[in-house]
Amino acid sequence: MTDTATFDLAGKNFDYPVLSGSVGPDVVDIRKLYGQTGAFTYDPGFTSTASCRSEITYIDGDEGVLLHRGYPIGELAEKSSFMEVAYLLLNGELPSADELSGFNHTISRHTMVHEQLATFFRGFRRDAHPMAIMCGVVGALSAFYHDSTDIHDPQQRMIASHRLIAKIPTIAAMAYKYSVGQPFLYPDNSLSYTGNFLRMTFGVPAEPYEVNPAIERAMDRIFILHADHEQNASTSTVRLAGSSGANPFACMAAGIACLWGPAHGGANEAALNMLHEIGTPDRIPEFIARAKDKNDPFRLMGFGHRVYKNYDPRATVMQKTVREVFETLNVSDPVFETALKLEEIALNDPYFIEKKLFPNVDFYSGVILSAIGFPTSMFTVLFALARTVGWVAQWNEMITDPDQKIGRPRQLYTGPTQRSYVPVGER
Ligand code: CMC
Repeated sequence: MTDTATFDLAGKNFDYPVLSGSVGPDVVDIRKLYGQTGAFTYDPGFTSTASCRSEITYIDGDEGVLLHRGYPIGELAEKSSFMEVAYLLLNGELPSADELSGFNHTISRHTMVHEQLATFFRGFRRDAHPMAIMCGVVGALSAFYHDSTDIHDPQQRMIASHRLIAKIPTIAAMAYKYSVGQPFLYPDNSLSYTGNFLRMTFGVPAEPYEVNPAIERAMDRIFILHADHEQNASTSTVRLAGSSGANPFACMAAGIACLWGPAHGGANEAALNMLHEIGTPDRIPEFIARAKDKNDPFRLMGFGHRVYKNYDPRATVMQKTVREVFETLNVSDPVFETALKLEEIALNDPYFIEKKLFPNVDFYSGVILSAIGFPTSMFTVLFALARTVGWVAQWNEMITDPDQKIGRPRQLYTGPTQRSYVPVGER
């Protein structure tokens, strides 16, 4: 590509630099466009807009490639651990053995939450959605850690990041315990990050809890698969909230709020609910027909992606992990058979082929999480737990980016032009 792009606007030419990344599409740098032409660009949903530079995650949606700091997601899921991936995302390189053990130590020393935080939970109804609790309680952390909120101090930023990564499993487990009416469990720092989370979720104070190593490994892999996904809606929300210099804990609460939506992280819950609703493979054609019907708002949940126009590489690992968990637990689930059949039928249907709609990470995650014992309402919480790592890495990157500015999009105004106020009695 050339290194400038020329726009012809009202018969006048304007040149803009074309920037190249290390890989991926070039980017036209239009920062001076408004100043020079008086025009904005229009791009609802940012389908053609790069909102920042980033060195963290790369996706090639056409080829189904996802790299974290250059490492393919399949390799990380197979060979790495969630803590190692967290270190990689935050620091840019895989840790040495000493660095990894230091990181594990640091994270495990931040797993407890302030005792006072537990009282927040009691303000919620027992049947509150755990994502509602997560939004509130993670936001409330902003009131507790005044020593780590100078966002311009790299050390304070790192402490806030470590606190978030360490405390989010504790808070997620507390949200679960609150909903089932069981006592909260304190963290056990002799366990791994993921083992500790499983114990805080499924253990009870009355008896010892044995972490099943195969489930621990599967859960750790699920966390790796959700750790980051470049400028998705919730990450962009965290960046936008953080661009004003806001408190990092409050920014994460904003990310959680965005993730909750069924078009984003809420899709795993919606996908499993849909599979249950379908019930048996003979009802699949009816649901496929509904998904294709323009007059029906129904969509196949867990299918399609803004960026992937190929198989989501995370779905490949997830499908394999479902099989492994089922073998370990020696269970089978008709819902998994329905999911496999639905995938097969959809991938051979001209509508899905033409629109390049493939299973995404959420299609199989619900099946596996429910086999492990999580209620559907916890699925998005687990996504939030894992994505916190990506959010803090992206938030740190944003703060140190010399090009960073407060996020402030413009608009195409289509409302009334100026008019005079008419008193209520005269309207
Ligand atoms: N079922 C049926 N049709 C679909 C689906 C689907 N799941 N997804 C997209 N389409 C159709 C859509 O109707 C549209 O058709 P047309 O061009 O005729 O109007 C076309 O495909 C393009 O869809 P879009 O909504 O313009 O694409 P988008 O990039 O804005 O949306 C998406 C991406 C993920 C929101 C969408 O595919 C969707 O709603 N999928 C279901 C929800 C889901 O699984 N979300 C999880 C995403 S992965 C996890 C995460 O990152 O959060």
